[in-house]
Amino acid sequence: MIRIAIDGPGGAGKSTIAKLVGNKLGLEYIDTGAMYRAIGLKLDREGIKPDDIISIRNMLEETAIDFVNGRIILDGVDVSDVIRTQEISKLASIYSQVPEVRSKLIDIQRRIATGKGVIMDGRDIGTNVLTDAELKIFLTADPMVRARRRYDELTAKGVKTILDDIYEEIKDRDYQDMNRKLNPLVQAEDAAMVDTSDMTIDEVVNTIVSMATRVSCRE
Ligand code: DC
Repeated sequence: MIRIAIDGPGGAGKSTIAKLVGNKLGLEYIDTGAMYRAIGLKLDREGIKPDDIISIRNMLEETAIDFVNGRIILDGVDVSDVIRTQEISKLASIYSQVPEVRSKLIDIQRRIATGKGVIMDGRDIGTNVLTDAELKIFLTADPMVRARRRYDELTAKGVKTILDDIYEEIKDRDYQDMNRKLNPLVQAEDAAMVDTSDMTIDEVVNTIVSMATRVSCRE
């Protein structure tokens, strides 16, 4: 049984890579960013502001978040697709600074990862959620490369957008995620850095699978 923690900035390819590595190694994939996005979606829909801690607490008590077959389920409804917008990216980054939100989601993340092989991605997995993970990866890429990938993805879907705007949004979100008080994005001391700027998806997947195989052989 191996637990792999993948942290890194937005747009570094964490979910694509984690899903593929998870399939190859038979590990359950847990996308913690999707959980923050789902909470961001609900708080925004209910018009609750990030500083309204009482309402956030009440809302969290009445909220159920789960993964079923890799889909994120918020209060019984599959929100996997509606959370993938630039707007929700921003909201997730803002609401993820609220301690109550973090502690609820971290509890769920640790519970899901108990007693089984998992690959979990996010910002604080190696440094906080699964500090004893057998393999920790810090997956990153140059901000302009990340912006270009996002731009190509949106353009392929027929969404009109401006590369410079995406680049600015990526830099803002990096700053916010790296400079918040609670569990900011940093590379864990025992994490291996993988810079995907000049790598193909296959190369990244093979690199991580080889690392995981070496770790499993040592165990
Ligand atoms: O990985 P993502 O882009 O889907 O994450 C959305 C936001 O959620 C990210 O900007 C910060 C927050 N997040 C977090 O604070 N901690 C995590 N473990 C995962 C995501």
